[in-house]
Amino acid sequence: MDKMVVVGGQKLNGQVNTGGAKNAALPILFSTLLAEGEHVFRNVPRLKDIDSTSELLQALGCETRWDGDLFRVLVKPAPSLEAHYDIVRKMRASILCLGPLLTKYGEAVVSMPGGCAIGTRPIDLHLEGMKALGAEIVLEEGYVKAHAKKLKGNTILFEVCTVGGTENLMMAAALADGITVLENAAKEPEIVDLAEYLNKMGAKISGAGTSVITIEGVNKLKPAEHAIMADRIEAGTLLIAGAITGGEVTVNRIKPQLIESLISKMKEAGFKIAVSNDSVMVHPNTSWTGIDITTAPFPLFPTDLQAQYMALMAVSQGASVITETVFENRFMHVQELIRLGADITPKTRVAVVRGHSGRLKGAPVMATDLRASASLVLAGLVADGETTVSRIYHLDRGYERLEEKLSSLGARIKRM
Ligand code: EPZ
Repeated sequence: MDKMVVVGGQKLNGQVNTGGAKNAALPILFSTLLAEGEHVFRNVPRLKDIDSTSELLQALGCETRWDGDLFRVLVKPAPSLEAHYDIVRKMRASILCLGPLLTKYGEAVVSMPGGCAIGTRPIDLHLEGMKALGAEIVLEEGYVKAHAKKLKGNTILFEVCTVGGTENLMMAAALADGITVLENAAKEPEIVDLAEYLNKMGAKISGAGTSVITIEGVNKLKPAEHAIMADRIEAGTLLIAGAITGGEVTVNRIKPQLIESLISKMKEAGFKIAVSNDSVMVHPNTSWTGIDITTAPFPLFPTDLQAQYMALMAVSQGASVITETVFENRFMHVQELIRLGADITPKTRVAVVRGHSGRLKGAPVMATDLRASASLVLAGLVADGETTVSRIYHLDRGYERLEEKLSSLGARIKRM
């Protein structure tokens, strides 16, 4: 099992490029099931979750391959319509094949994703939405068994903002009969990227990025080409890596407005941040105050940056209250940060972080989920001595060569 060993105390300086967004690539790769033929993508990140998606697409009868920097998906007619547990359990986003298979082939058998470290993460809103479009859904033996001769457009009101639910229903509605309106839809940029690709395939989707998305069903979609948008969560993580070490780091290939909520909180904490139209730079800073955050759907502070921001607050000169409103158990990193000497009091969905000038001290810690592992690496960058992060397969799901990017900025970090 790989470990990451970080030796703290190095200021990070220099420029680093943002890669393609995992959370845009996953739904877009599943959307290829809507159109037989060859789809071509650029800027797909090389991540474990992309490998898992390839494995599932291949199990469904498709061919996927890297061709230099291009990622090609060849969708063949009438693939198998079953997504097995042994693949789905590795990546909950596999549920995103439900909408495409159901609307294109009238049937889908997809394993229930099962639990996850950060929360129960139910899929009830996905299933209620499919039923609203006329699907018959049966849950048995741990599988979602869905059937629909032809989905029919309808208006769906999400009682909770759900990124995956919005994506699954947008894809299902693309080939349904008539108009579908998604109300209280999630507004994440990754949804806009998915809608852009669906429209390139010939779908008729408007309103993506707002809370009302209208999809006019069409009869057929054709394969297209697309460059995946930049990963705003990776960009935010790299910006915090520069900030927490007091260095000067420029993160390139990212539109600043995609991480505006993080930038404004870091400015409030005392960081000087400069932006251009596709980069964000943090200036050197030796002390910053504690600033509260509450995570919420886009454009507010993203839950996927909460753990990384907590590491920054753990070494601030003040207290901050971090409220997690999206997932019910996304404080798994708190106990591990405390092992490094952080002063954090977790309550349900709220954690009080008391920054202190005293340094964190390196120690062996354990990653529990993707973003928690990033938070522990960031804390290791400033902890005295050596921090060893175990179970970093979590990290590899969502960060491409993070240790190479950080070492290029001067970090002393290596994978064991
Ligand atoms: C997506 O997960 C992301 N994953 C997550 O990123 C991200 O944290 C999350 O959106 C929120 O932004 C991908 O895009 C692959 P949700 P998703 O449906 O779609 C509840 C990462 O680190 N809910 O928006 O699963 C749910 O329990 C990952 O990259 C229901 O109640 O998130 C949660 O409390 C982690 N019923 C809230 O909605 C449903 O049917 C938001 O979940 C669906 C969701």
